[in-house]
Amino acid sequence: MMQEKLHIPVSLERCIALLSPAIESSTNPVVVDATLGLGGHTKALLLKFPKLKIIGLDRDLKAIEIATSNLSEVIDRVVIVHAVYDELSVVLAKRGITKVDGILFDLGVSSMQLDQAERGFAYSQEAPLDMRMDQSSGLSALDILNTYSYAELVRVIRNYGEEKFATKIADNIVKAREAGKLRTTKDLADIVKASIPAPARRTGGNPAKRTFQALRIEVNQELDVLTRAIPQAISSIRIGGRLVVMAYQSLEDKIVKKAFTQVIASKSPIGLPFDLPNSAASYKLVINGSESATKEEIESNPRAQSMRLRALERVAA
Ligand SMILES: C[S@@+](CC[C@H](N)C(=O)[O-])C[C@H]1O[C@@H](n2cnc3c(N)ncnc32)[C@H](O)[C@@H]1O
Repeated sequence: MMQEKLHIPVSLERCIALLSPAIESSTNPVVVDATLGLGGHTKALLLKFPKLKIIGLDRDLKAIEIATSNLSEVIDRVVIVHAVYDELSVVLAKRGITKVDGILFDLGVSSMQLDQAERGFAYSQEAPLDMRMDQSSGLSALDILNTYSYAELVRVIRNYGEEKFATKIADNIVKAREAGKLRTTKDLADIVKASIPAPARRTGGNPAKRTFQALRIEVNQELDVLTRAIPQAISSIRIGGRLVVMAYQSLEDKIVKKAFTQVIASKSPIGLPFDLPNSAASYKLVINGSESATKEEIESNPRAQSMRLRALERVAA
C-alpha cells in the first residue's frame, strides 16, 4: 500500500556510527531527523537504539504519510512534524526541549519525490512543472517560469544551476511562454536543450539537469532555508551532541562548511599561541573536512555519488 519501492538510505551505517557516541552517552536520548523522508535513517536508528526517541521533520505531506506507514513498528518513539527545517528551534521549543543529542540532515529530494513523475522534479518524465516539496503552499516552478522577469530567470539559472548558458535559456523561456509553449517538464527540458550549443551538450550529462536544479532551489528556497537552519541545529545540540549533514550539491555543502568553520574557530585573537580563558571553540569537527560515500556504496546506490558528509560535535557550552 503506502510502502514505496525499495529506498536505500545513503551512508546509513556511517551516519549511525557518527551519531552513536552522542546517543549512547545519554540516558534519554533524543535525535532530530530534520529530513525524515521515507523514514529510512530514522527507522534504522530507532531499531538500533531501543531507548532513542526521534523528532522527524519533513515539509512534504506525502513523505510524512509514507514515513508514518514505514515506521509503524517504532511509531511510539517518533514524533513526526510537518515543518520546514528552519522551524527547528520553534518545533523544539513548543515541546519544551532545549537541547538534543543528535541532529541529522539528509538534504535534497527523496527517491519518492523523484519517482513520482507528477511532482515535476524529473526532467526525464513529462509532467506539470510543480517542483514544490510542500504542495500545500508556495509558487510552483511554472508560476516562476511564467512570472519572473528575464533578469530574474537569468539570476536563478546562473546562480543556482551554475549554468554557463543561463542568458540563452532565459531568453528562450520568455519566448516559449509568450507563445504559450511552456507547460511541462518536457517543454522545459527541450527549451534547455535547444539553448545549449551541441559541443557543450556532449559532456556533463543531461543539459536540463542544471536548470531543473536551479528551479527546484528557487521554488523551495532551499539555500535560504538551509542557511537559517544550520545555525539553529548547531545551537540545539548539547555538549557531547553531534550534528551530521549529507549534502548532494556544492551550493548546499558550501553553506554547511561555512557554518561549521565559523563555530570551530577559537574566539581568541588570531596569532595567540594559546586560547584566552573562555575563548576556546565550543565545537570540533568529527570529520576533518568532508567525506564521500565509498566506491562500493556508489556502485549499488548511484544517488550517493555526489554526497558530501560533514559532522560536528559540541565540546563546550
Ligand atoms: C533525501 S530525503 C531524506 C531521506 C531519508 N533520510 C530516508 O532515509 O528516508 C530528503 C527529505 O527532506 C525533505 N526536505 C527537503 N528540504 C526540506 C526542508 N527545508 N524542510 C523539511 N524537509 C525538507 C524532503 O521533502 C525529503 O523528504
